[in-house]
Order: sequence, then structure tokens, then C-alpha cells
Amino acid sequence: MKKRILTGLQASGTLHIGNYFGALKPLVDLTNQDDNEVLLMVADYHAITSLKDATELKTNIYNIVRDYLAAGVDPKKVILFRQSDNQDHMELGWIFNCLVTVPFLMQAHSYKDKVAKGLEPNAGLFTYPMLMAADIALYNTDIVPVGEDQRQHIEYTREAVTKFNNAYGKTLKEPKELVVAGVGIVPGTDGQKMSKSYKNTIPLFGTREEIQKAVMSIVTDSSGDRPLNVYNIHHVIYRALGKSQDELDALYHEHAGKYKALKDILVDDIETVIGPMRAKRELITDDEIRAVLADGAIRAKAISNPMIEKIRKAVGIAL
Ligand code: TYM
Repeated sequence: MKKRILTGLQASGTLHIGNYFGALKPLVDLTNQDDNEVLLMVADYHAITSLKDATELKTNIYNIVRDYLAAGVDPKKVILFRQSDNQDHMELGWIFNCLVTVPFLMQAHSYKDKVAKGLEPNAGLFTYPMLMAADIALYNTDIVPVGEDQRQHIEYTREAVTKFNNAYGKTLKEPKELVVAGVGIVPGTDGQKMSKSYKNTIPLFGTREEIQKAVMSIVTDSSGDRPLNVYNIHHVIYRALGKSQDELDALYHEHAGKYKALKDILVDDIETVIGPMRAKRELITDDEIRAVLADGAIRAKAISNPMIEKIRKAVGIAL
């Protein structure tokens, strides 16, 4: 059955392979299944909760769209748009803020983690889950492909939708998260979840040298004679290559104890997955990006505008 799928990635830096395997690839895969209706958003308003450099933000926006297109997102099939191009998000975000409580938002793991890591606890960062809920609910979204770290935000979305429907009558749909098994938490070079703030990432579109440097820095704590952190990242790459865990086990058995050789093979395997996408990425121009975003904004608003009218009516602000 036709489903509406939506996800978003923050324009707060360069994408890493965790973002790709956790969210972007599942979205691309769903685009190619059935005749799902797919929306992919650049979460640039979310990015300003932490990024305060205008030049950097603008560069990130171009780069992330370039990354999406290179990663196989077809802008004819997918509505690829920027959050800040559609003010309906802000309006529903505000309405949700007026429905949930401060103690409820205080339980958000992501907020607590970010503040613990030294991010400024600004009000935007605090209410961030309600803008995300708006991003999703505004399009009557069925499925949201995300990594494990975003699961709670989808629960928060359901809670905001329920609160809205209880207060104003059934208007909004409850979405479900899609966390793909095996890639929900792609590990970083230190074995923790790959995350920009842990400085343990393998860049999605780094040069071969950058990828090599990141792979060589993988901490080789071993379990038996198998370097577990290398193996776990390799596992994700092997799946993308359509190879089985048995084949991976055989490779690690054959090279037991030879950490450098295994890391070299991992670099080559990452290159096999990323290389063709990187080559495609280089051909994407800024003009093309602007055209894709302009078209995406029109198509996104064609869905959200009637929806926000319904919401305004329900709330009592449509005169
Ligand atoms: P963000 O930008 O932090 O991350 C983008 C996506 O990448 C996933 N991800 C991972 N998946 C597996 N392993 C990892 N190590 C890993 N690291 C990151 C994240 O789970 C996410 O799916 N709030 C969101 C952006 C957002 C959004 C939305 C998402 C805004 N509006 C609406 C879905 C729907 C965020 O900050 O993701």
C-alpha cells in the first residue's frame, strides 16, 4: 500500500556513514519500493540550535543537498526541500509547544546528551522535538526512517499528535519510526555510536585519504584475535555490498590478528560503496541544487498548505 515517508537531516556539518546507513539509505531504498510518496528535508532551522555561523550554514545546506543527490535521491521521485522554505513547520511547531509541558520536554535524551556535551541549552534546542514533530505531522507521514538516537523523538511526535487530537478533534496522523536492524546505531572509530560530537566519524564523502585516516584510527580493542570495532563497521559496509556475515567471518578468520590488513580491506570496501557516489557528487552544480530546492518547496507546500488550513480551523484561528 502506498505510504508517505519523510525524514530529515540537520545541516550542521558534513554527513558521516552513520547518517547514510541509518537514515538516508533506508529512505532511498523505500523510494524504490511500491509507489511510496517520499519527502526528504534539509533541517536547517534545527541546525541553528547549535550552529551560529551564517557562511558555514549556507555551505552546509548546499553540501547536504549535494550529498542527498549523490547518495541516490532522485528529485523527480522524492520531494527534496528545505525546512526554512516552508513556514507551516514553524506554525505547527508553535502549536505543539503550547500543548506539551516543560517537564515532558526535559525528559528528552537528545537534549540532555547535547547539554551534557557542552552545547548551549537555548530555548530552540529545548523545544527542538516539537519542531521535528511538526516536520512530520504536517505531511500526514506514515513512516520516518531514522537511526536509533531519534526513536524517542518519534515517540514525542506521537505524543504531540495525540495531545493535539484530544484538544481539537482528530486531525493529525500518528507516525511510526523505521529503525533498520543492524544499522540503527552505526559505531564510530572508538566503538561508541558514530557522532560528530564524539569526533569518531568516518566521513561519507571524504577523500580516500580522509577515509583511510579515519579507518586507521579505529581503536583495535580485540575480542579473541578479532578487532571488534573494525569488524562492526565492516559489517555495515558488507551489508551494503550485498555480502553475508558468513563471508565477513571467513575474511576475519583468514586474517586473524592482522589488524592493518583488515583495516586496508575495510578502506577498499568503503571505497567500493562510496567511490561511485563521490564521482557523481562532483558533477552536481549549485544551480542544480537551487532548482531542486525551489521545486521541492512548491511540492512540499502543496501538501502542507491545505493541512495547515485544517489545523488553523481546528485550533480556532481561521476566521
Ligand atoms: P541528525 O541530523 O542528527 O541525524 C540524521 C540521521 O542520521 C541518523 N544517525 C545515525 N544512524 C545510525 N547510526 C549512527 N551512528 C547515526 N548517527 C546519526 C539519525 O538518527 C538521523 O536519522 N532531529 C533530526 C533531524 C530531523 C528529522 C526531522 C528527522 C529534523 N526533522 C523529521 C526525521 C524527521 C536530527 O538531528 O538528525
